[in-house]
Amino acid sequence: MADEKENLQFKAVSDQMKMVKKLSTIKHKIVVMSGKGGVGKTTVAVNLAFALSHRTKKNVGILDADIHGPNVPKMLGMDGVRPDVVENQIIPIYMPLGDDYGIKVMSMAFLIDPDAPVIWRGPLVSGAIEQFVRDVDWGELEYLIIDMPPGTGDEALTIAQKIPGIDGSIIVTTPQEVALLDSRKAVNFSKQLKLPVIGIVENMSGLICPYCGKKIYVFKEGGGEKAAEELEVPFLGKVPLEPKIVEDGDAGIPFLGDIEDSESAKAFMDIVDNVMKNIGK
Ligand SMILES: Nc1ncnc2c1ncn2[C@@H]1O[C@H](COP(=O)(O)OP(=O)(O)OP(=O)(O)O)[C@@H](O)[C@H]1O
Ligand SMILES: [Mg+2]
Ligand SMILES: [Zn+2]
Repeated sequence: MADEKENLQFKAVSDQMKMVKKLSTIKHKIVVMSGKGGVGKTTVAVNLAFALSHRTKKNVGILDADIHGPNVPKMLGMDGVRPDVVENQIIPIYMPLGDDYGIKVMSMAFLIDPDAPVIWRGPLVSGAIEQFVRDVDWGELEYLIIDMPPGTGDEALTIAQKIPGIDGSIIVTTPQEVALLDSRKAVNFSKQLKLPVIGIVENMSGLICPYCGKKIYVFKEGGGEKAAEELEVPFLGKVPLEPKIVEDGDAGIPFLGDIEDSESAKAFMDIVDNVMKNIGK
């Protein structure tokens, strides 16, 4: 009995070492998370990866860690794509942005029938994430952006614990008053995992009226900024509500590449600057 337990422990340690070695070709790992759903994590994750790859002219990966609702592929126009497997390694789907750099994507959506509902119990979730780390040929990456499932529950916890060496978390929130509550949950989650908070993004922050150009504060204003102040974590910036962002998301194109001159794209580029600055610290 004791031997068996020791063997299991040994296996766990050696698995963990394999995962660490596997991820050693990745310079920075960032999780994008939130206290609740639908606030724009995937939008932030996809556009952040796009911007970071353009800025650094290097490969950037996105790991869609939302096992139950994987929609990174949809936002990048990779619906229905199936990855190749070479020598037992899954090759992530590649979206070239320049001659020798681009985005590499891995998602549960590539491995399952999209119409079949999947009910993943805890052990299956951690097994799936392990597979994403261990069995995917990521190659050299400047950044790996990990798009988390909504919330701070067991599933998110299991996922974050399974990925060794995460640099820190980006917390996405909305401007409402409850933002403070949601952000606090996310900050505490990061603390619990000893992940530095890279900063808070306030998304859907005011709508630019297409008729008169004035800003309409649909969900009030400043909740994310106030939360950052109160929780003593960096504030990365605000992205306004822009109808084109929804359209681009549905069409599978990063909005940064489409509406470069819009206020939201400019705001997003400031956020990218802040992420790069804060991660170097
Ligand atoms: N700044 C914005 N302006 C307009 N629409 C936005 C903005 N940010 C996100 N959206 C839209 O809101 C919806 C939800 O965004 P997204 O899927 O990124 O959120 P999420 O936090 O990843 O959701 P989930 O919790 O379900 O994973 C999408 O349709 C997206 O296009
Ligand atoms: Mg999402
Ligand atoms: Zn108006």
